[in-house]
Amino acid sequence: MDLTRLILNNTAEPDKTRVNPSFIESKIKNDKKVYIETYGCQMNYSDTEIVLSVMDEFGYNETTDINDTDVILLNTCSIRENAEHKVYKRLDDLKKYKVRNPNLVIGILGCMAERLRDDLLNKRKIVDVIAGPDEYRKVPHLIDNTIETGEKGIAVKLSRVETYDDITPLRREGITAWISIMRGCDKFCTFCVVPFTRGRERSRSLTNIVNEARRLNEDGVKDIWLLGQNVNSYKFEDNDFSDLLREVAIAVPEMRIRYTTSHPYDLSMKLLETMAKYDNICNYIHLPVQSGSDRVLKSMNRLYTVEQYLNVMRKSRELMPDVGLSTDIISCFPGETEDDHKMTLDVISEVRYDGAYTFVYSPRENTKAYYLPDDIDQETKTRRLDEIITLQRKISVEINKELVGKTKKVLIESLSRKSDDFYMARTDCNKSVIIPVEPGHVSSAGELVIKQQYKIGDFVNAKINKANSATLFAEVI
Ligand code: SAH
Ligand code: SF4
Ligand code: F3S
Repeated sequence: MDLTRLILNNTAEPDKTRVNPSFIESKIKNDKKVYIETYGCQMNYSDTEIVLSVMDEFGYNETTDINDTDVILLNTCSIRENAEHKVYKRLDDLKKYKVRNPNLVIGILGCMAERLRDDLLNKRKIVDVIAGPDEYRKVPHLIDNTIETGEKGIAVKLSRVETYDDITPLRREGITAWISIMRGCDKFCTFCVVPFTRGRERSRSLTNIVNEARRLNEDGVKDIWLLGQNVNSYKFEDNDFSDLLREVAIAVPEMRIRYTTSHPYDLSMKLLETMAKYDNICNYIHLPVQSGSDRVLKSMNRLYTVEQYLNVMRKSRELMPDVGLSTDIISCFPGETEDDHKMTLDVISEVRYDGAYTFVYSPRENTKAYYLPDDIDQETKTRRLDEIITLQRKISVEINKELVGKTKKVLIESLSRKSDDFYMARTDCNKSVIIPVEPGHVSSAGELVIKQQYKIGDFVNAKINKANSATLFAEVI
């Protein structure tokens, strides 16, 4: 017997579960727990908050205890092979929970759900529910149906209109929040799965985004990230991304505003000018270059030349002298020669990034680059990546050491991951700064002298005493 029933979406319009008359009934009926793990980019973390909000309306409450839950969801990433391996490995781990509790429902959300639906459905017996990034309104229905009938549920249709604009994400406490401003990507870089897993670009209403920022401000959030795969192609009515950024900056002047990710082709001078004009828009730009070779960039379909990219970097430094700059680099794209690789190292030396995320090219089925021969041997791959990382680390250390002795305004974001005796704070240009929780010192008479009290969410002036490639260490003055 085929236990699999495909739940098909016949329409491109999202069905608004919020006005579903069965809502009240469902809420009363369900008092269940859902545990969710998130992999991949910030968009996925932001989507998890949307899923939790949809689930909450149907009586599913989040739990952080995997041993005591009715549903386990993995919100997954497909960007590179190892991202998918991690989830497959995790699915193997989850078998033991299903053995312990045969009624447990296991669901796969996100980009792998979209890309690997057949494999997940047919080869991974423990997966009950599969929902792609544009189908999150259906997740509670799919789960309810699985619980009631034992049938598997799948919903993976991509939409041209779904932005979840009307859903208030269920956020965890904290002073930082994400706001998704757009979904999908139309760029089709030849190496990338995102246009296939997240579909076409679409933007949320400017007014709703501004109102969400205002609400977060009232809730005590101090730092917001505007998110999209390519925020620079945000377009709503006559407004582009710099219009949106300006409106948010004016609406919540006491909040820090950041965004990610930008594509160099769409980054306008108007955006740089807007960033420079408003103090609360952080002077930080993450602008993936991917390669320093025009030939490789062309083969990647990145739509810019190295010179055009460097001009954007120069202009941003001209307008914002202390701007923080970071990038993404793919090493060993098919056909990359030793000369191409050296050109990438040259761009790193020229820009002097504060930081870089570097990856070895990972072939992804169905992308254009997949059909190019992955022709670089493993030893060369390891060496080139290592050279990029070593050079970038050296530059990051040099830049950070120049900050020793200087004072920076930082926002205290959380306790440090390594010790409760320290806070993790961040500079405007996105550098992590570790400061002691207890601002006092012991006097010569042996008494603790408290100079000043500060807490998470406060802006303080921090004098940098020490630095390595990733972190600054400071005291509050
Ligand atoms: N939308 C963003 C990036 C999303 S993916 C942008 O365009 O900038 C994040 C990074 O993963 C990319 O910038 C790229 O450096 C890397 N990446 C994407 N596909 C990859 C692949 N097939 N192999 C290796 N790295 C990849
Ligand atoms: Fe992928 Fe390119 Fe779109 Fe970024 S811009 S998500 S790398 S296709
Ligand atoms: Fe991964 Fe999908 Fe984000 S592939 S990087 S989770 S858009």
